[in-house]
Amino acid sequence: MPAPAHVDWYDTPLYYDIIFDEDTVDEANFLEVMFERHGTTAGKNRSALELACGSGRLIREFAARGWNAAGFDANPRMLTFASDRLSHEKLVARLWEDRMESFSVPGGKRFDLVHCLVSTFKYLLTETDARASLERVASALNPGGIFVLGLHLTDYRSSKISHERWVVTRDGIEVVCNTRTWPVDPGTRSEAMRTRLRVTGPDGRVLRQETRWSVRSYSAAQLRRLIGAITSLKLVACHDFRHDPDEQRKFDDSYADLVLVLKKS
Ligand SMILES: C[S@@+](CC[C@H](N)C(=O)[O-])C[C@H]1O[C@@H](n2cnc3c(N)ncnc32)[C@H](O)[C@@H]1O
Repeated sequence: MPAPAHVDWYDTPLYYDIIFDEDTVDEANFLEVMFERHGTTAGKNRSALELACGSGRLIREFAARGWNAAGFDANPRMLTFASDRLSHEKLVARLWEDRMESFSVPGGKRFDLVHCLVSTFKYLLTETDARASLERVASALNPGGIFVLGLHLTDYRSSKISHERWVVTRDGIEVVCNTRTWPVDPGTRSEAMRTRLRVTGPDGRVLRQETRWSVRSYSAAQLRRLIGAITSLKLVACHDFRHDPDEQRKFDDSYADLVLVLKKS
């Protein structure tokens, strides 16, 4: 069997979308409930900004639900995929190429809801970048608006490689995704990950690809410290990756997959 090709997974948006799109409706439902519960600026035209929107699965969902949806990503291929899908479905959203640590919103527009789920925030590799991004989020929110941040915490005591596997088929394309995460050195806070995809097309042809990257690790205390530095954002709720509005979590290390809801004062 040939070795998998080394590619950036995000250069193949369709395969990313096939794996992650399964959760889109649940995540959008959760975000809407969080906004109704905690946001105070509900107007006729609710607006949502997604940091690092990737294939645009959530942008599409919010646009279809009547929100003024906007988002940016560092990867132009992801943005082209997102934009093509919106055009195909005759939906409208504002998309642009930008980076989480330095983004600026065209026209200085502000939003009722800003969100960044599925650990995407961990791509910010330094405290300076993470803080700069949160400051920009705070500036991009209307007073009373909310920021929903979902990320996986690291158990620094663990010496095991963790493994997750997904298999999803759409339009005759099967994508098998295996992700491994290596134990983290608390000194560097650099979490090494590897994702391998095996994609079987409708004609039975198989393609294999591998991506390696590092993300920044967080304990609950590290995340709390970071957020505490942004005085205009206050924690109002803590949930988990099941995105169940009726289930709250403590903001501590007892559960790894946390979703924080922060409100702009
Ligand atoms: C896990 S995907 C999440 C995509 C989307 N938010 C979602 O929920 O499906 C991570 C995305 O982050 C983007 N990305 C990584 N680092 C970034 C940065 N510093 N600024 C903007 N986008 C970034 C990648 O291009 C990729 O599209």
